[in-house]
Amino acid sequence: MKDNKKFKRYTVTSALPYANGPVHIGHLAGVYVPADIYVRYLRLKGEDVVFIGGSDEHGVPITIRAKQEGVSPQQIVDKYHEIIKKSFEEFGISFDIYSRTSNKIHHETASEFFKTLYDKNIFIEKNTEQYYDVEAKQFLADRYITGTCPHCNNESAYGDQCEKCGTSLNATDLVNPKSVLSGNKPVLKETKHWFLPLDKYEDFLRKWILEEHKEDWKINVLGQCKSWLDTGLQPRAVTRDLDWGVKVPLKEAEGKVLYVWFDAPIGYISATKEWAEKKKTEDGSQKTGENSSADGWELYWKDKDTKLVHFIGKDNIVFHCIVFPTMLHAEGTYILPDNVPANEFMNLEGDKISTSRNWAVWLHEYLKEFPNKQDVLRYALTANAPDTKDSDFTWKDFQTRNNSELVAILGNFVNRVLVLTQTFFNGVVPEIQEKNDYDNEIIASINVQKEKIEKNIENYKLREALKDLMDLARAGNKYLADTEPWKLIKTDENRVKTILNISLQLTANLSALMEPFLPFSAGKVIKMLNIEKVKWEDIGKVDIMQNGHKLNNPELLFELIEDDAINAQIQKLQNTKKMNEENIISSQANLPPQKADITYEDFAKMDIRVGTVIAAEKVAKTKKLLKLTIDTGIDKRVVVSGIAENYEPENIIGKQVSILVNLQPKELRGIMSQGMILMAENTKGELCFISPVEKFDDGSIIK
Ligand code: 2FM
Ligand code: ZN
Repeated sequence: MKDNKKFKRYTVTSALPYANGPVHIGHLAGVYVPADIYVRYLRLKGEDVVFIGGSDEHGVPITIRAKQEGVSPQQIVDKYHEIIKKSFEEFGISFDIYSRTSNKIHHETASEFFKTLYDKNIFIEKNTEQYYDVEAKQFLADRYITGTCPHCNNESAYGDQCEKCGTSLNATDLVNPKSVLSGNKPVLKETKHWFLPLDKYEDFLRKWILEEHKEDWKINVLGQCKSWLDTGLQPRAVTRDLDWGVKVPLKEAEGKVLYVWFDAPIGYISATKEWAEKKKTEDGSQKTGENSSADGWELYWKDKDTKLVHFIGKDNIVFHCIVFPTMLHAEGTYILPDNVPANEFMNLEGDKISTSRNWAVWLHEYLKEFPNKQDVLRYALTANAPDTKDSDFTWKDFQTRNNSELVAILGNFVNRVLVLTQTFFNGVVPEIQEKNDYDNEIIASINVQKEKIEKNIENYKLREALKDLMDLARAGNKYLADTEPWKLIKTDENRVKTILNISLQLTANLSALMEPFLPFSAGKVIKMLNIEKVKWEDIGKVDIMQNGHKLNNPELLFELIEDDAINAQIQKLQNTKKMNEENIISSQANLPPQKADITYEDFAKMDIRVGTVIAAEKVAKTKKLLKLTIDTGIDKRVVVSGIAENYEPENIIGKQVSILVNLQPKELRGIMSQGMILMAENTKGELCFISPVEKFDDGSIIK
């Protein structure tokens, strides 16, 4: 609400990434750097804040990835949880807790939440027809099914969403549905599910979003919410027929789990509980002070003086502005988010970031190639943030941001001040002598910029806030360029003392203002100045650097990034593009997807042998069939095979083949066929024998 209400504490959440792959710059730019800037700022101001992050470890993409890699879903989430967590740590994303939705506390919290809504009769129970894969013996939830989008004709839309046109879909909307598991056309089968009746909450949502928050929520967020509301909300199933997820806590719901988008946002609550528990243990006993972060988790979720803010990407808007608030409201004891500052997407070199096409800058790879340059990326992503519209990350822009802004403006100012103090005053802070108007102006500009930064951060305008910070560094540079202390030292040492004292005060102030955006570099400045962290409330003061205080030796704050390093990155992306184009050509071969898993026992039931064709003739009045006599090593038998369009009988006599000998005999065109010749079939429908590469004994077992 835009009434400048003073909150007692803050709960800041950042979208829980799916633990099925590493994180890239798009994640950092859209969600985690903005959230971290906001939280670091609040902490500097001494606010009571909990910053929540964690892995979203349920949902179909994780089970699909597990199948592809031939491991369990738990192994997938264990692996990626660690990788993602490490990346966030390395980039200074200062979570108070980085939890996971596979934790026991989360399963309990999500079950309890569902049970509360169930007991309050919030859900609608419905028997519906869902797609089912007969071969895989499984219902096909969400991404287990693909087909053609009825809105834009995209042939690879998913059962829950078309990624091309962004429409949210039901699997039954898809044209030509296909199971991801077997490639087969699924059948409809009845199953019971629990639905959250969003339609019943439309009035509440309209009032809360479109009236109460029309002033303070971002236009892109309000726009999406309005469009959802105007299209008309439908009841949404919050359960699924799957075996990976939080079990539905009802006897009659055997084999069902909560929909991932029902349990994931509850993950924020479970993580807060986990954090509060840990705090309690760390602190020895639970404190009860007003400002203590060891207060119970409930204060952070249920007290109206708590400000709840969700940082997310634009694809998560509906879940955080419509579905989750409806759940919280229906439950009845929770606060609602005060703001959901969702960002648009960041593209890469003019193309949408894509995990499957490897069109991304992965965080763990970036740090190998640009060690210790976390702040450069944080800076480039914030300066070019996708806050009002999609933005584009280019390596050239990254280089310019570093060389022409961080090095030439901020780094240059700080280094000049430190080196001049070292050279002229042995690294000891000189005393102010007499101030003139220009000095007072530069001092006053610290507070002016501080206020602008505060206002912009509080309104989630982080790109502007960063610009305000850089403008202050620019002013510092101009001050030095205009006053020229390096020339004055010969004629007016006292004036130089004043200029450098003021410049050092400005540097100390900058270190605090930098902290939310560039925490690693802020730390470096503090170390060079040899001072304690400057408090936010002290920004604007000009006695932070005491007269006579000894500085540490200056080091370069930022380094130039050479063309070679940038060209190597551009080349890497060009290679990816080339590989993708080649992959597209080979995928046009249109091979069917892998079938559902079988056990070794299933396979071992088949008795496949090497055999030799000893006679072959066409079956009268058919185009496709050949009557073959095969020496199987065990016997000589007749097999009818549909290969007449591929092989002339006279050319295959003496050929060795693979034959399934224990297939039930079957009469075909009056001939008893005893077995089946195994053939490879390509996408053009051409057939080829599966033969030993060299002559081998007939009757040998193929296993
Ligand atoms: O889009 C995603 O990556 C989701 N895993 C975000 C979940 S946010 C929250 F609800 F947990
Ligand atoms: Zn579509």
